[in-house]
Amino acid sequence: MPTIVFISPKGGVGKTTSSLTLGTQLAKHGAAVTMIDADPNRPLKKWGKGGRKPDNLAIVSDIDEESILDAIDVAASMTPFVIVDLEGTADKIALLAVSQADLVIIPMQPSELDADQASRALKVIAQQERMARRSVPHAVLFTRTNSTIRTRTMTHIANSLREAGIPMFDTEMNEREAFRGMFSFSAPLEALDAADVANVPKAIENAERFMNEVLDTLRRNAATAEQGAA
Ligand SMILES: Nc1ncnc2c1ncn2[C@@H]1O[C@H](COP(=O)(O)OP(=O)(O)OP(=O)(O)O)[C@@H](O)[C@H]1O
Ligand SMILES: [Mg+2]
Repeated sequence: MPTIVFISPKGGVGKTTSSLTLGTQLAKHGAAVTMIDADPNRPLKKWGKGGRKPDNLAIVSDIDEESILDAIDVAASMTPFVIVDLEGTADKIALLAVSQADLVIIPMQPSELDADQASRALKVIAQQERMARRSVPHAVLFTRTNSTIRTRTMTHIANSLREAGIPMFDTEMNEREAFRGMFSFSAPLEALDAADVANVPKAIENAERFMNEVLDTLRRNAATAEQGAA
């Protein structure tokens, strides 16, 4: 029953978009998923009200630092996958969510400013690791990247992260209208109409790759944890 938490102190880096992409892809493949919408603006709840939400994807909203631990507990007892989307913050709620995480995903746009902000998210993880005396699996996810051009800034940031030993997803979330379209039309990628939104199949292919890498990462982490316990 993996709990996957998306955090970043910086707003607008793609937490909600990437978390909904993951949730809807898992649901499409038949997994039951609970998405915990811990953003006071309730973007996921609003999305769900559009009427295209799959039945096996539940959305729990109005969650704050008082209720987040209970909400994750209840969700984990109901569905095999729990995905937590937080507002852009490094506050206590982020620390609480990270304490329950099997995997923390730190979305980051490939700019120096965003990299500075992401290092605050990494500090939250390091803090939790010290408090709980356990390692918290985590990885940076580059978001809104160009699908054809790799900028020098991005190469530089990726190299710096690698040198610092910070894990990164191979998959990037490319900048695609279809990812925005999920919210404009309150629908999963697969339900978007090609007449309304360009390049939906490319976005679906990107989303599938992201989901598969998340699943591989969870499997690898579980195997490592088992070896450690043996
Ligand atoms: N891969 C993407 N392709 C195109 N647009 C994207 C992508 N990811 C995010 N966006 C757009 O960027 C903006 C911010 O994305 P999103 O709301 O997911 O960020 P966030 O990190 O959840 O923000 P907040 O901290 O405010 O909750 C939105 O307008 C969204 O549509
Ligand atoms: Mg958000």
